[in-house]
Amino acid sequence: MTETWWKKAVVYQIYPRSFADSDGDGMGDLRGIIDHLDHLAELGVDVLWLSPIYPSPQDDNGYDISDYQNIEPLFGSLEIFDELLTGVHQRGMKLIMDLVVNHSSDEHEWFLESRAAKDSPKRDWYWWRAARDGMAPGTPGAEPTNWGSVFGGPAWEFDEKTGEYYLHLFSRKQPDLNWENPEVRQAVYTMMRWWLDRGVDGFRMDVINMISKVVPLPDGRLSAGSAYADGSAGFVGGPRLHEYLQEMYREVFEGREGLLTVGEMPGVTVDEAKLHTDPDRHEIDMVFQFDHVWADRGPDPWLLQKLQLTNLKAILGRWQAGLAEVGWNSLYWNNHDQPRIVSRYGDDSPEHRVASAKMLGTVLHLHRGTPYVYQGEELGMTNYPFGGIADFRDIEALGQYKQALELEGRTPEEVLTVLRARGRDNARTPMQWDTTAQAGFSTGTPWLAVNPNYPQINAADQRQDPDSVFHYYRQLIALRHREPVIAEGDFTMLLPNDERLYAFTRRLGDTELLVIGNFTGESVQAEIEDAASWSGAELLLTNLPGASSSALTLAPWQAVIYKRSYPH
Ligand code: NOJ
Repeated sequence: MTETWWKKAVVYQIYPRSFADSDGDGMGDLRGIIDHLDHLAELGVDVLWLSPIYPSPQDDNGYDISDYQNIEPLFGSLEIFDELLTGVHQRGMKLIMDLVVNHSSDEHEWFLESRAAKDSPKRDWYWWRAARDGMAPGTPGAEPTNWGSVFGGPAWEFDEKTGEYYLHLFSRKQPDLNWENPEVRQAVYTMMRWWLDRGVDGFRMDVINMISKVVPLPDGRLSAGSAYADGSAGFVGGPRLHEYLQEMYREVFEGREGLLTVGEMPGVTVDEAKLHTDPDRHEIDMVFQFDHVWADRGPDPWLLQKLQLTNLKAILGRWQAGLAEVGWNSLYWNNHDQPRIVSRYGDDSPEHRVASAKMLGTVLHLHRGTPYVYQGEELGMTNYPFGGIADFRDIEALGQYKQALELEGRTPEEVLTVLRARGRDNARTPMQWDTTAQAGFSTGTPWLAVNPNYPQINAADQRQDPDSVFHYYRQLIALRHREPVIAEGDFTMLLPNDERLYAFTRRLGDTELLVIGNFTGESVQAEIEDAASWSGAELLLTNLPGASSSALTLAPWQAVIYKRSYPH
């Protein structure tokens, strides 16, 4: 096995709460995953990434961890985890864990000790600060910096007992760990080695580009209409980030083989990502950047922006070019924080859902990089028809709604319009397995409602149907395994100014591919420069086999992949 095995791998993300419930408590669990491993093996994915399954008060659905070396009882036990890991390995797949070490839960033993007293030996494991100079502790505006938390409200929580504040970039139940303290770092590395020794194959690292903060912590920029400042300049890509990741590599990964490490990095630039993923620098294998899923976001967070295809192409083209020689891209449309891609950049109407889901899959999987499939994406699952705020469970949706209404003068409808389209709960509705009650997810009452479209969209039907999104994704994954040009080939964007078609070529040695996706509900002719020269090429895959793509005219939401030898 070479250290770049993941270049031709496809990763599948499981959000365990919403995947499969084996015991009827309405919450997915590890036994539920074990029961469905054959679905994943049939799909052909190489790696499973599990969102957090550790003990947790579940304030942020497990991204608030109270014990890093155990399993949340709602999900199972270490014994069941070992059984799952064996089942994954037996099927020739790997398993990576979510590593959430920018913050812990406020119920983690480390934090309980830290908050107990100012002279606690673990006081400095978290970011404790006194009130702003000249202000009375605990009064509005006395927070040590003006930063807002991602989930609404200030990023600081006042602690009556010791009269100081602690930092939490996310919920108040997610205090930030202080990576400046070498004991913290060693405790994290010890825990990571423990999981690798148990047999796991790597980590997806939660907001890992926020672990290094600018010291002293600086105030952020306050923009008109927002209650708190954007503090990101003080913690995104901080001054010691590269040093920490290199130390982590030496302490945890050096000398081990067959692993995969991917760092979630909101706000990362191409240049930084190149440094993080340059194999000679020994940091991590790949990063999750966000530019392409923020492409439909304008300056006003409560105003929906329509996607400009030219903008999406400029963004992804920039990432492809930036990491062409050194470093590596991860490729994703969906995860547990993003709305469903077919509802977002595709068309989830009955007429076009299947075609547009397949087209989006084609465009993504044919880029250079490692593709990630989020549970249900392989079925073309859609956003949920949310009514009012009572339908949401996500701490982010609820917190932002409260702040926008109470402090920023927004109307409920204004905020709900955006939450319905972009809210994270869209991704978190239960996996749609079959047509039985609750989509076969649970025999009880699911923690979040099942999408009512499960009679039309479910895994059981799609496994029987050769034209389903499921079987199409299976083909895309098999194609990557089979055609070296998909994993290794270079990438050239075509038609950068076209608002309707996404087109590019890939080339490796004497093989060349042409990929085109139609992002509209109309027929569109692709005006690529040497169109005629592709007339004899082999049509490797299309999502609409009946539709003609002669003279490169694409039917609504059609995708085509042509292959020819180079030079032709
Ligand atoms: C990113 C995770 O993907 C998200 O779900 C979580 O809320 C935050 N990090 C905080 O851990």
